[in-house]
Amino acid sequence: PSLDHISNLYDFEYLASQILSNQAWAYYSSGADDEITMRENHSAYHRIFFKPRVLVDVEHVDTSTEFLGQKVDLPFYVSATALCKLGNPKEGEKDIARGCGMGPKKVVQMISTLASCSLQEIVEAAPSKDQIQWFQLYVNSDRKVTDDLIAEAQRLGLKALFITVDAPSLGNREKDAKVKFSAEKLGPKAMEQNKADKEKSKEVAEKGASRALSKFIDPSLSWKDIIEIKKKTKLPIVIKGVQRSEDVLKAAEIGVAGVVLSNHGGRQLDFSRSPVEVLAEVAPILREKNLHDSFEIYIDGGVRRGTDILKALCLGAKGVGLGRPFLYANSTYGKEGVRKLIDTLSFELEMSMRLLGVNSIKELNPDFLDLSALKAK
Ligand code: FNR
Repeated sequence: PSLDHISNLYDFEYLASQILSNQAWAYYSSGADDEITMRENHSAYHRIFFKPRVLVDVEHVDTSTEFLGQKVDLPFYVSATALCKLGNPKEGEKDIARGCGMGPKKVVQMISTLASCSLQEIVEAAPSKDQIQWFQLYVNSDRKVTDDLIAEAQRLGLKALFITVDAPSLGNREKDAKVKFSAEKLGPKAMEQNKADKEKSKEVAEKGASRALSKFIDPSLSWKDIIEIKKKTKLPIVIKGVQRSEDVLKAAEIGVAGVVLSNHGGRQLDFSRSPVEVLAEVAPILREKNLHDSFEIYIDGGVRRGTDILKALCLGAKGVGLGRPFLYANSTYGKEGVRKLIDTLSFELEMSMRLLGVNSIKELNPDFLDLSALKAK
């Protein structure tokens, strides 16, 4: 169907389920174990309600904000997802870069260590000079590989390092494990440069794409390593995959720029709580400790509507990431699909801001929310 028939993000998902290869659909759509967390990520947003303000002049609404000190047009971003060529074999992550930069409102793209295009290709594909890209880092057991990746990201002008810490071991994604995966043909581009990784990627993983990729990640990663990496780079560091207040405070203590509250889209530990619920708990603690201005909280998982974004922002998130929806839009319509997704979400967000009675992102606060259903649970 033509893109005009796409009304919302679920339409992309449905179409992707119909046209993607078994392998791509299994890898993209799967969650861990019984997929309870994957569903909960979204359904937790259903327990948050709005308290709109009326008779406010909302003729003009401004969706811009700042991420890590840089102005952005929209408060949401593309979260890192590996292997975009599984669904869009020719263009992969390059079409996401194009979609993010080709409209009037630019969207930030976080690029995975396990991208199927090289970092340089993705950076060069970005059509607009003032388009922001971030690098998502999986720390390799061989720290030289990691140092080289960081240097490359810096050289290419990426603006931040998001270090993923929720995958010391691979989540049990059974749908995906049933489909064989050849890392040699489709494996991550960045890993082709390292000899040991090259050998690993030659192996045909009998148990799915996820297991093949997990070989690249160091399970011994700890707080000490983050402190070491921080010493070596000028890029702001954000820790991705934090799931409890204690760890948010620890991250603030070691002086990184922020965290992403995330459970990896429900692909790691099943029965992890939804990030938005964690956010409702953490945000007041940060305010109490006066850290809410200096330390940035991002959130991802289950975000599918403008209202989801608005709720997270009211609670105190700086920005909101989406993973699967961009994979589905990119796999069904390439860059045009990515653009359509952005425009759809941007339209929903603007409309919801008007209906809530606000003109700008900075006006949002928890008083606009009724959290009783979230807390009563
Ligand atoms: C991911 N995610 C992920 N995260 C990361 O830090 N590095 C990665 O390479 C990947 N790869 C990846 C592949 C696929 C297929 C999915 C679905 C997810 C997690 C991603 O960044 C994000 O946390 C979730 O996707 C957010 O949940 P939603 O929006 O997919 O519900």
